[in-house]
Amino acid sequence: MAVLNVLEYPDPALREATSEVSEFGDELKKLVTDMWETMYLSKGVGLAAPQVGRPLKLFVADWEGNRRVVANPRIIEAEGTERGDEGCLSFPGVFEGVSRPARIRIIYSDENGERHDETAEGYLARVFSHETDHLNGKLLIDNLSALKRAFIRKKMSKKSRS
Ligand code: NI
Repeated sequence: MAVLNVLEYPDPALREATSEVSEFGDELKKLVTDMWETMYLSKGVGLAAPQVGRPLKLFVADWEGNRRVVANPRIIEAEGTERGDEGCLSFPGVFEGVSRPARIRIIYSDENGERHDETAEGYLARVFSHETDHLNGKLLIDNLSALKRAFIRKKMSKKSRS
């Protein structure tokens, strides 16, 4: 097991296009194990492969014991809107209110290549939606107002210089 380096905004790798996971073998399982270790150490509830410099459609999430390995997700239904505070390991210290669907239906493969069709609500739906955004190069900051975006950009660029 190894703790991976979590890339922080504005690292350009966070915006890169990602590839589908096609091999569900030992290499993937090792990456997943390392992502779990990294996520728990950072006290996160989700971590996407692009955040550790791997441009793959893959994330791990654990919200209140709902532990998921999600590869190649597709959100096929979304209902309602719920506003709630959100953080991201690529934006340390940032917590902002973001509107997300209240309920989603998501299809994906787990680390063994088994297909899942899951309906999630509330914060779990928020985590799935946030992490799926990462796989499309979309970040927390993109969901905020122009004013908040400018503020966070400034804060993060100061941090990366120090
Ligand atoms: Ni994130």
